[in-house]
Amino acid sequence: MQCDILTIFPAAITPYLKSSILGRAQQKGILDIRVVDLRFFAAGRHHQVDDTPYGGGPGMVFKPEPIFRAVKTLTAEYPVPRQKIILPSPQGRLFTQDTARELAQEEYLLFICGRYEGIDERVAMSLITDELSIGDYVLTGGELPALVMIDAITRLLPDALGDKTSAQADSFSDGLLDYPHYTRPPEFSGLRAPEVLMSGHHDNIRRWRRYQALQRTWKRRPDLLEKACLSEEDKQMLNEIMKK
Ligand code: ADE
Repeated sequence: MQCDILTIFPAAITPYLKSSILGRAQQKGILDIRVVDLRFFAAGRHHQVDDTPYGGGPGMVFKPEPIFRAVKTLTAEYPVPRQKIILPSPQGRLFTQDTARELAQEEYLLFICGRYEGIDERVAMSLITDELSIGDYVLTGGELPALVMIDAITRLLPDALGDKTSAQADSFSDGLLDYPHYTRPPEFSGLRAPEVLMSGHHDNIRRWRRYQALQRTWKRRPDLLEKACLSEEDKQMLNEIMKK
């Protein structure tokens, strides 16, 4: 997958992209990320990328010309049939695990990071294919949301994770929250790890984990149960949980 990030703060996001799974995915050649400075495409001696809003009001608005120039240049280098041009914005559709799964199928993603006050609407009207929000709160710019989305998408690319099963076991992969995890020592600070996990009995472990995932989801995010795909065994467990 080719992923381009257009930003006025390249130095702020580059270190994160080098670390952990994102760094490894690039080393393995699964993902190529280019961080591109929007100012490079801005005209004039001052490389001005923003201007005061028409109609007045606070803040600055990103000018359309540098963004149009940048998008034209960057996308021309990856002429795949479908190019996703993504604008992180609190006005966008909510980015979920399903969105991450859809975007993980794409060959080319371009994230345009704006400042909160906004981007000239003509960019959104004619360039953007997906305006996406990571939640109902306002961040200062699109850089953190772009990193959040790229992280979630990268985990789903084939061979990006060391252990193939770990993306499948993640919270939300089947619509439920994840079960609790434990490691050595068996007892810490008076708290014992659940005996079943140390029993070596695989089916009991599987059932315990499923029960915990269902219980957590029921207690913390009951809204998720409406869409989760549940087996007969799950439904029986859930009945038991709800009776408690
Ligand atoms: N830019 C500012 N706030 C945002 C949010 N919640 N999601 C996506 N982009 C944003």
